[in-house]
Amino acid sequence: MEEKLNQLKTLVAEIVDLNGAASLLAWDQQTYMPPGGAEARSNQLAYLGKLAQERAISPALGKLLEELLPYADHIDPDSDEACLIKVSYKWYKKATCVPVEWVVEFTKVTTMANQTWVEARQKSDFSIFRPHLEKIVELRRQYATFFPNVDHPYDALLDDFEPGMKIADVKVIFDTLRPRQVEIFKAIREKPQVDAPFLHQAFEDQKQFAFGKEVISKFGYDWQRGRQDQSVHPFTTVGISVNDVRFTTRITPNFLNPSLFGTLHECGHALYGLGHRPELERLGLAVGASYATHESQSRLWENLVGRSLPFWQYFYPRLQDLFPTQLGNVSLDAFYKGINKVEPSLIRVEADEATYNLHIMLRLEIELGLIEEKIEVKDLPEIWNMAMEEYLGLTPTNDAQGVLQDIHWSGGSFGYFSTYTLGNLISCQLWEKINQDIPDLPEQIRMGKFDTLLAWLVERIYQHGSKFEPQDLVQRVTSSKITPEPYLRYLKAKFGEIYG
Ligand code: CO
Repeated sequence: MEEKLNQLKTLVAEIVDLNGAASLLAWDQQTYMPPGGAEARSNQLAYLGKLAQERAISPALGKLLEELLPYADHIDPDSDEACLIKVSYKWYKKATCVPVEWVVEFTKVTTMANQTWVEARQKSDFSIFRPHLEKIVELRRQYATFFPNVDHPYDALLDDFEPGMKIADVKVIFDTLRPRQVEIFKAIREKPQVDAPFLHQAFEDQKQFAFGKEVISKFGYDWQRGRQDQSVHPFTTVGISVNDVRFTTRITPNFLNPSLFGTLHECGHALYGLGHRPELERLGLAVGASYATHESQSRLWENLVGRSLPFWQYFYPRLQDLFPTQLGNVSLDAFYKGINKVEPSLIRVEADEATYNLHIMLRLEIELGLIEEKIEVKDLPEIWNMAMEEYLGLTPTNDAQGVLQDIHWSGGSFGYFSTYTLGNLISCQLWEKINQDIPDLPEQIRMGKFDTLLAWLVERIYQHGSKFEPQDLVQRVTSSKITPEPYLRYLKAKFGEIYG
């Protein structure tokens, strides 16, 4: 068995190396690559992807895993080896259920669709994108049929982002959340609204970048094992190595929020990536447990820490020093309320904490309708606009501000959106537990001290990588599966105070 286990480790490590090299090339593509390099880069990435895929579905890997499965049942189920075998087997089975021709077709269709989506969004014309999306939906419906044993066709899609999660569970969570989230949002809108024009002024790029750097250095971001650059769309690359986790920031010169909170958000993803136990790297387990778990960490550092009063009690004087003309006369109280302002918006990525989940619920409803064949692509702009009116009382005036705003569907990512909301819920569930375990946490944050918090997260969440499925991990840490209650308590307490 020892020998077979070593063979498995070698095979998995090769896949890890191929994917790591591809991650670095992709990072470079979006940061420093000159435009002329695009064609060669796409060839290189395609070839590396093919090599990794060939190994991931190779009969040699399948045979080893089949032989090792009984062994995994006899050792400690939480050991690295048992998790290596079980997790690898799961993804192997899943990958081999999908015909190679489907993968080739899907890659072709989504590459084209992505380019067309950019054009359709620029021209704000859904009809340009529509035939491509129709093809993608057809392929996604077909994808679900490769997994006849799932309870619901959507489960096959969701599982790619949230291992083990079922749409039935998500529905229960969302059905509880939705009416109460709407209720909180309506209550806020009935109160006098917050005005924060001071956030929209000229803030020098260099200083914005410098401030973000100062904050994340305090968080404990390790500059020996990571770097921060600028890019058109902010992102984090966790795939290169557990000792090389990079992220990017986009500076908006006339608005303080996007760069500042974007930096904290991406840094949250990066801290998670840096916290995996190094031994897991070559076992392919040094990745996050799921998309929602990852998003719970970006949200935790961005919102629960970065939009909290104790955080600004420490950092606000420093920010005022950097921007004396812009913020010198703005009180801490006004600033804190300003960055937590609730306002319904058409655009998901600009939404505040009190309305964000409503954007997600709308998208999930549409995705389900499409996969269940209850909705047709041609009706999407109308369905979208009606739902926006119902949920947020707003109607998009064009497709770019409505159904065309997100990139996800053009890449075929169906099943992704709900992970954002689940991430919000997990972040608050963890936050309650953290505050029980570290009762003086607000006091620590007020002193600019984040090491106890980071150590807690590494110990309970980060170090485990993808050894456990998200529901299992959350249960282990909080003694409960994913639930919306802590999130609702958080919203009520925070916005109750801000809006009286
Ligand atoms: Co994120």
